[in-house]
Amino acid sequence: MNSKIAILGGGNLGQAIASGLLSQGLNPNDLTITRHKIELLDAFKSKGVNILKDNVEAVRQAQTVIIAVKPYKISEVLKEIATVFTKDKLLISVVSDYRIAQIAELLNVQPVIFRAMPNTASSVNESITCIASSEANEEQTARVKSIFDALGKTILINEQLMDAATVLGACGIAYVLRFIRGMIQGGIEIGFDAQTATQIATQTVKGASELLLIQGNHPEAEIDKVTTPKGCTIAGLNEMEHQGFSSALIKGIKTSYENINDD
Ligand SMILES: NC(=O)c1ccc[n+]([C@@H]2O[C@H](COP(=O)([O-])OP(=O)(O)OC[C@H]3O[C@@H](n4cnc5c(N)ncnc54)[C@H](OP(=O)(O)O)[C@@H]3O)[C@@H](O)[C@H]2O)c1
Repeated sequence: MNSKIAILGGGNLGQAIASGLLSQGLNPNDLTITRHKIELLDAFKSKGVNILKDNVEAVRQAQTVIIAVKPYKISEVLKEIATVFTKDKLLISVVSDYRIAQIAELLNVQPVIFRAMPNTASSVNESITCIASSEANEEQTARVKSIFDALGKTILINEQLMDAATVLGACGIAYVLRFIRGMIQGGIEIGFDAQTATQIATQTVKGASELLLIQGNHPEAEIDKVTTPKGCTIAGLNEMEHQGFSSALIKGIKTSYENINDD
């Protein structure tokens, strides 16, 4: 099987996916990235990746096509590639808020269509990618899963949950980064320089995640281990809750979900 992959839309996410795939050993010759401003893809070009402005040519050469343009651009791109999109190719859209049925309407043939929702941690192979498909068979699902497995972890979901996946997994990167920034600011106020505070905050977030990922515990069970009665951890934690910490997060997640079609 031709293993060539084309990424249409080499922006933030398209480049993150490309970087992740290359770091996992994808042959640069088997990867094509398109965008209008191709000079912004020089770093990929120098690695041997095919850089094109022409989506039609990119699709012609590829077996798997990943569409990573903004939602308001996807219909234009689908119409452009419709004539060269054959049934044997796999189409993966990482575009948020654009359903499989809407994609199918704009193509001349009905290939198997996937939606995938990775995040920008794809570039360091630490994405969580939720994947949904129309009528994919096991082999096709395995092929798409293997692409995103190379970028981190993957979960197969029902397409109805794709908006929720967008918020929790893709927007989630921003929520966590804002949390880290807050920790750094607090760390500076209690005595660390910015660089040291960043080192402590980032490794602490990584360590907390790994406690859950590796040991499979509930967060509250891990919190109980570090909250001494009358101690400083519980005092700080309760103050954060009095200020609406968990509530702000939950409300923020719901607000993102309600605004998903505004991207
Ligand atoms: N960023 C995330 O974390 C994330 C996570 C999950 C899903 N998504 C989804 O991924 C998509 C891309 O998001 P993004 O953040 O990567 O946006 P972005 O940085 O704006 O990237 C979109 C890219 O598409 C290119 N483009 C525009 N029209 C094109 C066309 N006709 N043919 C080929 N390329 C074209 C643009 O480059 P030129 O202007 O040079 O053409 C731009 O580089 C969105 O639909 C978003 O919903 C993003």
